[in-house]
Amino acid sequence: MVSVVIPTYNEKDGIRELVEAIFAQTRGAGIDAEVVIVDDNSPDGTGQAAEDLKLHYPVQVVHRAGKLGLSSAVIDGWKAARGEIVGVMDADLSHDPAAIPALVRAIENDGCQLAVGSRYTSGGGIKQWPLARLIISKTAVWMASPLTPIRDITSGYFFVRREVVDGVQLNPIGFKIGLETFVKGRYRTFIEVPYTFTNRVAGKSKLGLGEIWLYLVQLADLIRYRLTNGAVERVRVEPSNETPATASTR
Ligand code: GDD
Ligand code: MN
Repeated sequence: MVSVVIPTYNEKDGIRELVEAIFAQTRGAGIDAEVVIVDDNSPDGTGQAAEDLKLHYPVQVVHRAGKLGLSSAVIDGWKAARGEIVGVMDADLSHDPAAIPALVRAIENDGCQLAVGSRYTSGGGIKQWPLARLIISKTAVWMASPLTPIRDITSGYFFVRREVVDGVQLNPIGFKIGLETFVKGRYRTFIEVPYTFTNRVAGKSKLGLGEIWLYLVQLADLIRYRLTNGAVERVRVEPSNETPATASTR
């Protein structure tokens, strides 16, 4: 089974459409899936909207007392998840559910341990981003690039075999649970599956100056981690190939 964790804070307007789209994709591809929504007591009532979805789909809802942060929400969601493959995607329809079958199949059939939904790989892209956000994103990616060969380093859309993160000390600060997983996760093979990121249509982004500061703190922590623990071999699997095409050892 695959567990898709969705952290939510004030996402009432998009959550239903997203969950419907996820199950349309997984059912169409014959993938056994559940969704785990982790809501931080959203003032807009997202928690109740999530509860309502349980009537129609295999959905779990984790309610937390208040806004405790995106990364810790994902970690709590993975704890509740029952799948042997676990993943995460945003609630605002930015992460195209149409990429789910390719992401999951790469893990189930092609021997990848980590599958990243990627904007910055051939075939991927971004729709409707203001220039400022594009610059922030590219800078964030550039700063972390010595830590991992993954191109979309700040992706918040990815799936792993549970063993990759089980028992790993993931720092729950800030937004970048993906980066944490990419650097500390117990995987050798990974794939980047292209998708086009669409700017949210409803609600507001929660990315502010605070999150940018936390990103810098997280980077410093990961650099320290890398210096203490050394590099691990990571092997990129190309989407069209069955066998690893290029290897890197960053
Ligand atoms: N439970 C919970 N608690 N959920 C949260 C919190 C929180 O404190 N903060 C944010 N979320 C949820 C949002 O409701 C949304 O579903 C998801 O986390 C991402 O938040 P956005 O506000 O939409 O973030 P973004 O669009 O600026 O950034 C996202 O996309 C980037 C590009 O892939 C994040 O996924 C980033 O990590 C990612 O780099
Ligand atoms: Mn978003």
